[in-house]
Amino acid sequence: MTLASDLKNVDWVFGYASLIWRPDFAYTHRHVASLAGYRRVLWQASPDHRGTPEAPGRVATLTPDAGASCGGMAFRLPNAQRSSILRDLDEREQGGYERHMVSVALDDGPHVQALTYIGWPDNPHYLGPATEARIVEHIRRSHGPSGPNTDYVVELAKALASLGIADAALERIARQLA
Ligand code: BEZ
Repeated sequence: MTLASDLKNVDWVFGYASLIWRPDFAYTHRHVASLAGYRRVLWQASPDHRGTPEAPGRVATLTPDAGASCGGMAFRLPNAQRSSILRDLDEREQGGYERHMVSVALDDGPHVQALTYIGWPDNPHYLGPATEARIVEHIRRSHGPSGPNTDYVVELAKALASLGIADAALERIARQLA
């Protein structure tokens, strides 16, 4: 799908990782939201932010899981800046992530269609599942231009906790890293 053909339909962006604590774009409303049928996983390589091309770190993506729900933040975009925000986001979320429209439930009730970014298994930076011990070990030794990989996970866990969003697997990994 091309950006231009989609622009008119994108009113909301759903963030489930760094967008939660560092959206870096203007929005008119922000709501804690949940995406049913997906789980947050640390299965995407980061060769540019939390690692290097030679030693990529591990960052979040979503994996389909029928029984799960992923908590995050939904941002409503201001009309006038929508296209430039989406263009900037497309650039920021390079590295194997693809735009994907999802239906998210806002904390005050309604469902909205939102754009999110997912690193699917066919992307070149997809690492896939690993044991929790291996994920912890990988993250502990990874550093990139945006800082230690550990900070990314600990920041994410803190942001989720401050919003009352439960993610038991991420909390366990963050506790081992902290
Ligand atoms: C997010 O916070 O939703 C996100 C951030 C970077 C890449 C993909 C998703």
